[in-house]
Amino acid sequence: MGAIIGVPGKVRLEVNLVPVPQSVAIARVFVRHQLISLRYADRIEDASQIVSELVTNAVRATASASPGALGRIRLFLGPHHGRPLLEVWDSSPEPPVPREPDFRSESGRGLNIVRSLAIDFGWYETEGGKTVWALLR
Ligand SMILES: Nc1ncnc2c1ncn2[C@@H]1O[C@H](COP(=O)(O)OP(=O)(O)OP(=O)(O)O)[C@@H](O)[C@H]1O
Ligand SMILES: [Mg+2]
Repeated sequence: MGAIIGVPGKVRLEVNLVPVPQSVAIARVFVRHQLISLRYADRIEDASQIVSELVTNAVRATASASPGALGRIRLFLGPHHGRPLLEVWDSSPEPPVPREPDFRSESGRGLNIVRSLAIDFGWYETEGGKTVWALLR
């Protein structure tokens, strides 16, 4: 876990995860812990689903972007204008592409779940990859 000092007096708590499927469960624990300490415990259920989808996507994207190389995924959850903001950074330059909801399809559900549970979500390019974010209720 890394604490990055941003705004003076404020600590930005992040976790670095290895891009393997087991990291999804660790991400849920981090999110749960952060929401409890920020007094947003009633958001745990939604946030757990959202972070599971975003980290699963990041694991998959990182594996295909650098097969064989052990990359990193970075996870952040903190307050943003009175709401919890979740951010997942990965090193793949490819953007997430939400698909049209299709109940017959077995994939392409993840971002639709995120879209339905979060107030808003999106992504931005960062040096060496991109960050996918979700603003919670
Ligand atoms: N972090 C990411 N990096 C690169 N591409 C991504 C990322 N997240 C999503 N995508 C792209 O967006 C598409 C849609 O993502 P989504 O999570 O909705 O569906 P899925 O991951 O393909 O299937 P499911 O989540 O239902 O298992 C993915 O197939 C992938 O091409
Ligand atoms: Mg997915």
